[in-house]
Amino acid sequence: GKLTPFVDPLPLPTVLQPVKKVEGKPFYRVPMTQFQQQLHRNLPPTTVWGYHGSYPGPTIEAHTNKPIFVEWINNLPTEHLLPIDHTLSGAGTNVPDVRTVVHLHDARVTPENDGLPLDWFPPGHSKTDFYPNIQPATTLWYHDHAMGITRLNVYAGLAGFYLLRDELEDRLHLPRRPFEIPIALQDRSFNSNGQLFYPNKGVTAKHPVWVPEFFGDVAVVNGKVMPFLEVEPRKYRFRFLNGCNARFLRLALSSGQPFYQIGSDGGFLPESVALQQILMGPAERADVIIDFSDHKGKMITLTNDAPAPYPTGGQFVIPKFMQFRVTKPLSSPDTSSVPKRIKGLSLFAGVPVVKVRNLTLNEVLDKNGNPIELLLDGLPFNAPVTEKPKLGTAEIWSLINLTGDTHPIHLHLEQVQILDRQPFDVAAYQSTGKLIFTGPAVPRDANEAGLKDVVKAMPGEVTRLKVRFNTFTGRYVWHCHILEHEDNEMMRPYEVIR
Ligand code: C2O
Ligand code: CU
Repeated sequence: GKLTPFVDPLPLPTVLQPVKKVEGKPFYRVPMTQFQQQLHRNLPPTTVWGYHGSYPGPTIEAHTNKPIFVEWINNLPTEHLLPIDHTLSGAGTNVPDVRTVVHLHDARVTPENDGLPLDWFPPGHSKTDFYPNIQPATTLWYHDHAMGITRLNVYAGLAGFYLLRDELEDRLHLPRRPFEIPIALQDRSFNSNGQLFYPNKGVTAKHPVWVPEFFGDVAVVNGKVMPFLEVEPRKYRFRFLNGCNARFLRLALSSGQPFYQIGSDGGFLPESVALQQILMGPAERADVIIDFSDHKGKMITLTNDAPAPYPTGGQFVIPKFMQFRVTKPLSSPDTSSVPKRIKGLSLFAGVPVVKVRNLTLNEVLDKNGNPIELLLDGLPFNAPVTEKPKLGTAEIWSLINLTGDTHPIHLHLEQVQILDRQPFDVAAYQSTGKLIFTGPAVPRDANEAGLKDVVKAMPGEVTRLKVRFNTFTGRYVWHCHILEHEDNEMMRPYEVIR
């Protein structure tokens, strides 16, 4: 990019207000529309898609055990903004080009309210979902999930925050609004006319449009290119979301100061962790405190050095995402604190494991070595359900990554606990089907000690996670959250049975 960095202020998504009460519960209404938004001072307005007229969408604020309804309304045009590949499963010419369905990522909801990929609806239609909020505080986000075009719909702008709070959070002395700010980190590319660029030429004969991963070359934060945020010399709480289609982020602060991470995808960590760098795969969230009190007058850049694809690289790395300017005077004393111990997490201790599943992550290549599709356990989306855990039981899922990339694996409905990761002989596994470990199991990272809903499965490693199916029965999905992978078979149904 030739776009000058740090010339536009960081936009703060508005907080959505309910339109009425239904059965005594707040009822929200969210249209999805196409509109123009200025993403940088020197760019002409860009045509985007958004919820409630903004990209990213407004933030939904909810509280544990206080249910809400949201009516999601598809008011988009009938023509898609970005190039569709009609050869992908579920994206044929027999379905409308424009279709949407909203998934509340990390929510414990019944299948009808989950926003599953086949529950899409075309322009002129809507779907009302019931969110019971029966889970502890965490940073959720909502985004599109329509079969075969999720990567395009999210890239066009369909994503927003959903902050779930609870009593524990209320008791912690965390920085609060306006010192608590959600930050959606994304990458985008622009045509010379300032419009969103997404490739329209694939790499294989089978899928003439689909690309295996797309990396934009411009950082976009809360819908602005490389913005700045003026802050006071005090502690701030940021909800970082990696909202990129495929790009991993390894974040750091140019001041050399640490992030204090207090939560991840699944809610608060057992204790806060001071980190110089935070590695985030697509869809991962990090709840962090940054203390600017010793940095009066400083300009601090939020940097990234994660190779793309991760971890092998080869594509453009976006080195800077945004800037913090510690230029505002202190408006009131900072009484917030970084909690040390936050939460006694018994997690799934004492819940017996009834099943261990070995599940491969693999890539199918054409004769030129280009990816045709990606699979979970060697199976496409439409193959019969093979994972049928029983309600009330716990299982261990061993993700055996046979590819060269890290895949952010996401399970709908239940949160998981990462146990460990262990390197194995990939070539031996491919020829004999036997797991031969080549080193000791490495425990999860300190910022993975809480519950998670996205798990980084590294190449050449078996990532073991424990999951308890304890909420609802029914059919859900699990998938890679690299959106190009998810759209091309790296997604499977699973069913919790009685
Ligand atoms: Cu964030 Cu199934 O998705
Ligand atoms: Cu993947």
